[in-house]
Amino acid sequence: MAKTMEEIVAHCKNTGFIFPGSEIYGGLANSWDYGPLGVELKNNIKKLWWEKFVQKRENSFGIDCAILMNPRVWEASGHVASFSDPLVDCKECKARFRADNLISDFSKGEVNPDLMTREEMSKYLSDNHVPCPVCKKSNFTPIREFNLLFQTHRGVTKESQQDIYLRPETAQGEYVNFLNVQRTMRAKVPFGIGQIGKAFRNEITPGNFTFRQIEFEQMEYQWFCHEGEDEKYYEEFKKASKDFFLSLGIGEDKLRFHDHDKLAFYAKAACDLQFLFPFGWDEVNGIHNRTNYDLSRHQEFSGKAMQYLDPITNEKFIPFVIENSYGLDRAILAVICNSYETEKLEDGEEREIMRIIPKLAPFKVAVLPLMKKDLSEKAKELFSKLSQSFRTIYDDTGSIGKRYRRQDQIGTPLCVTVDYETLENQTVTVRDRDTMAQIRLPISELEGYISKIVNG
Ligand code: GAP
Repeated sequence: MAKTMEEIVAHCKNTGFIFPGSEIYGGLANSWDYGPLGVELKNNIKKLWWEKFVQKRENSFGIDCAILMNPRVWEASGHVASFSDPLVDCKECKARFRADNLISDFSKGEVNPDLMTREEMSKYLSDNHVPCPVCKKSNFTPIREFNLLFQTHRGVTKESQQDIYLRPETAQGEYVNFLNVQRTMRAKVPFGIGQIGKAFRNEITPGNFTFRQIEFEQMEYQWFCHEGEDEKYYEEFKKASKDFFLSLGIGEDKLRFHDHDKLAFYAKAACDLQFLFPFGWDEVNGIHNRTNYDLSRHQEFSGKAMQYLDPITNEKFIPFVIENSYGLDRAILAVICNSYETEKLEDGEEREIMRIIPKLAPFKVAVLPLMKKDLSEKAKELFSKLSQSFRTIYDDTGSIGKRYRRQDQIGTPLCVTVDYETLENQTVTVRDRDTMAQIRLPISELEGYISKIVNG
């Protein structure tokens, strides 16, 4: 049985995956903290992404750029001028909303606000008497543009202060370093640059849990290629995105592509990969054919040539860019929503389970002494041994049945139980999370067995 969003949020908080940000102070809207289990899951997804895009792809390089960049970067990218949401305030209760969200919610997805001008949105709100979701009256202010950039200042005195921005995407760091990477790695076009890092957006609409946050992580990959080969690579990266989500254990039936209805004026093609969340289909990844727009803009604004000299043809040109952008937090949320369920057992009982694939599971194995009093020393010895190779958890509290259930709830693929027989013949019971089947193995074979399960 699938879970609701409320159940998922409660489960994440109660088990240590994700906590509300600064909770003891009443929280901060759209901010969340990853707990002991969440951080393991996050690191495991990052590792898979880095392996797939940076490590295993030919002509592929990683970077890690500064979050704070010269503000001219954001003028060149267009974020200062036009990275905004259309906002309205309810004149009655003062609540604030995105006009585009009001329209798509009111029309139940029948009307696409992305295709509307701001004037058309205003007209739709008043013609249809769209109600305020909070007070239910329909009396909104005119639409105002609200820039999503987080601004801060550097400098010691007011006069010397310079406005700078927290990056709203990691991509620009990859663009401005295009020639640094090309030169130092002696890279030939086509080649790619990947980066994982924080991005910040002043999102004011309440997000569905971690789906829309003010601070989030992106895993972005830019592929620099010849014009003429861009369409081929666009298709290749569409496939790569889907393959990546399939490799996280997500079923094909929960993934679909959605072409952008309205393209940016410089873009040749753009689509999202969407996942079927409990609240509906929504974007987890974007694939964009950005032409040579970004590098050309940086050439124009910085005055530095961003051209690549082809060593074979001697041709100088600004490459096209195919962008493959992943929201790490959305990938985590998709994995959690996809794997957490209530299972009805044959005996009529129910159990909570997270069917996370072993590679992503926060803990790979739990070590459980059947009796704390006599067996904890041996179990702790085993914990020390296994934790050298695998993220392992030790638990000696409560009945063995309860301890198995606790591990099922957080997705631990294997439980190893130390019992009295262990002391006699150095064997343990190994229980499988999904089938609940138990086998007996010599301790000497344990690491090989766990390795096989974890690495598929
Ligand atoms: N460089 C292109 C870019 O940033 P985007 O569609 O704005 O494109 C890319 O963002 C991905 O980042 C999205 O597909 C989504 O997964 C993630 N993302 C965007 N805004 C987010 C937010 N406020 N909270 C969490 N993830 C977000």
